[in-house]
Amino acid sequence: MIDSHCHLADDTFACDLEQVIDRARQAGIETALVILEAGNATEAAQAQRVEQLWPGVRFAIGVHPHQAHQYAADPARAASVVREQCAATASARAVGEIGLDYHYDYSPRDVQHAVFRAQVRVARELDLPVVIHTREADEDTITILTEEGGGSLRGVLHCFTGTPALADAGLALGFYVSLAGILTFPKAAELRETARRVPLDRLLTETDSPFLAPVPYRGKRNEPAYVARVVETLAEMHQMSASDMAERTASNFHTLFRP
Ligand code: NI
Repeated sequence: MIDSHCHLADDTFACDLEQVIDRARQAGIETALVILEAGNATEAAQAQRVEQLWPGVRFAIGVHPHQAHQYAADPARAASVVREQCAATASARAVGEIGLDYHYDYSPRDVQHAVFRAQVRVARELDLPVVIHTREADEDTITILTEEGGGSLRGVLHCFTGTPALADAGLALGFYVSLAGILTFPKAAELRETARRVPLDRLLTETDSPFLAPVPYRGKRNEPAYVARVVETLAEMHQMSASDMAERTASNFHTLFRP
């Protein structure tokens, strides 16, 4: 099993990181993609600790749309910060999470667009896949990925909660779709229906921890070990064994985030 998106370098895990990683390994989680906020020195330091405790983890580095406003005066600087940090991080395997968030609108939309575009260009330049965060911004996200991606961009729509149209548009771009713990919520029937459209060779699993713990841990801090619940739910939906689903999604992960 793989946790293709977690924030293990977040403060929330600072005091018991060792136990969190032990539990993940005991639960059979092979590896994880750890998301780092570009330019955040505290997270970068914590990332080194994560890697010491869990050799083989990989990192994604990017400016989240919530933080895009920090680069309002010079969106190109977001790109250079990402470029430099990727170069300095031997285990960096993706640019992310990047994208658009019109739900919170913490950054003005034109700034979000410019910072997102600049980072997609860096991903192409470095030949790295992108990890996409999109909320209530489906059309603009797909437009930017299409315009800047040039048909060669690889990536994943992370923590997918979108419409069937968004899933289809992402799949048409060749992207993967990653499902998180929301899939296990009783009220998520519609999401489960949409998730069924995703071909088995495009599925990824994630926790997005510390956020969004799956049933039966809802309301608690989420952690990589709990990705097992997402794998089980997907396996039930596809009427296959959890170990087969784990194998399929792990192989997808290795294809996208090359070792
Ligand atoms: Ni995230």
